[in-house]
Amino acid sequence: MKALVLAGGKGTRLRPLTFTLAKQLIPVVNKPIIHYVMDQLKEVGIEEVGVIISPETGKLIREALEAENKWGFSFEFILQEEPKGLAHAVKTAQGFLGDDDFLMYLGDNLIGESIVPFVDRFKSGEGESLILLKEVEDPRMFGVAVIDDKGRIKRLIEKPKDPPSNLAIVGIYLFSPEIHDAISKIKPSWRGELEITDAIQKLLEDGKRVNSHILNGWWLDTGKKDDLLEANRVVLDEWVKRRISGEIDSNSKVVGRVVLEQNSVIENSTVRGPVTIGEGTVVKNSFIGPYTSIGNNCTIENASIEHAVLLDGSRVLGVQRLEDSVLGRKTLVQQNPQNHSPLQLMLGDNSEVLL
Ligand code: G1P
Repeated sequence: MKALVLAGGKGTRLRPLTFTLAKQLIPVVNKPIIHYVMDQLKEVGIEEVGVIISPETGKLIREALEAENKWGFSFEFILQEEPKGLAHAVKTAQGFLGDDDFLMYLGDNLIGESIVPFVDRFKSGEGESLILLKEVEDPRMFGVAVIDDKGRIKRLIEKPKDPPSNLAIVGIYLFSPEIHDAISKIKPSWRGELEITDAIQKLLEDGKRVNSHILNGWWLDTGKKDDLLEANRVVLDEWVKRRISGEIDSNSKVVGRVVLEQNSVIENSTVRGPVTIGEGTVVKNSFIGPYTSIGNNCTIENASIEHAVLLDGSRVLGVQRLEDSVLGRKTLVQQNPQNHSPLQLMLGDNSEVLL
């Protein structure tokens, strides 16, 4: 079985971060989202991984995967010139996929449980496709499935105004090569894309068997600022264990599940986990509260931060309450000591805020 990871797209919902960074490379707990995807593929034992890239961010994705190919995968990078849909991406990758079964994984999706049982079920030969579903409150912005009492798919519809169920299609799919024929039969949707949902619906109409697997754990489609903060919160909550490699001076208190990477320093400060702090970061005269991830080479001085994501090289100086915020790389937020109102920010790379 091969894997096809989709890492194209423009990431418009996460602007301004995605003006300078591919959405799949945005870190959750100091690790790019796409690295979590690769960890999942490794667990399943897949070795050949095709990665769909776009002209805008392809180079960055390639570097991030090849520079640190700790999974030992054989990567093939496949350029999709324009974002014409998920089924179009499969079509573009047909040379790589050949006649093999494959796992398709959207490179910005993060799930809280192993995909091994899902893949094992498909391998037992139950159908031509197996899709992952999750009950959600508002399924209108997803593909939606109707299933029978055995979990077989009866009908699928992409982003329905009036959803026939609350089962959303998670961006992880298993296909046999039959999907290529179905894709060749579909037309672009109202949004001008070749939808994978329509191709799976075509499989059904052609009498093929499509089954579903319901995800019980969490699923985060890292679409917007709040989704990113939520992904960060959940991963910190569930996966982070205390590990201190940096230095803590005797005037500081570092409590609970905190990761402090090497060459980082905590001086005269309190850090209350769950928190991760990358390499080469300095925290001085500050408070870092729960659900915060701070990247590499950041400086936090005379500040108080909680429930926030700070990317590499950002500086927060003199800010009394920074909460629910995402700061891009090399941002500077500096506050005048007279001003004490809380701040809520979403800042792209290189922004500066002086208050
Ligand atoms: C795509 C699929 C949709 C699925 C979603 C999961 O939507 O078309 O069926 O539910 O991914 O993330 P898109 O991200 O293209 O809007």
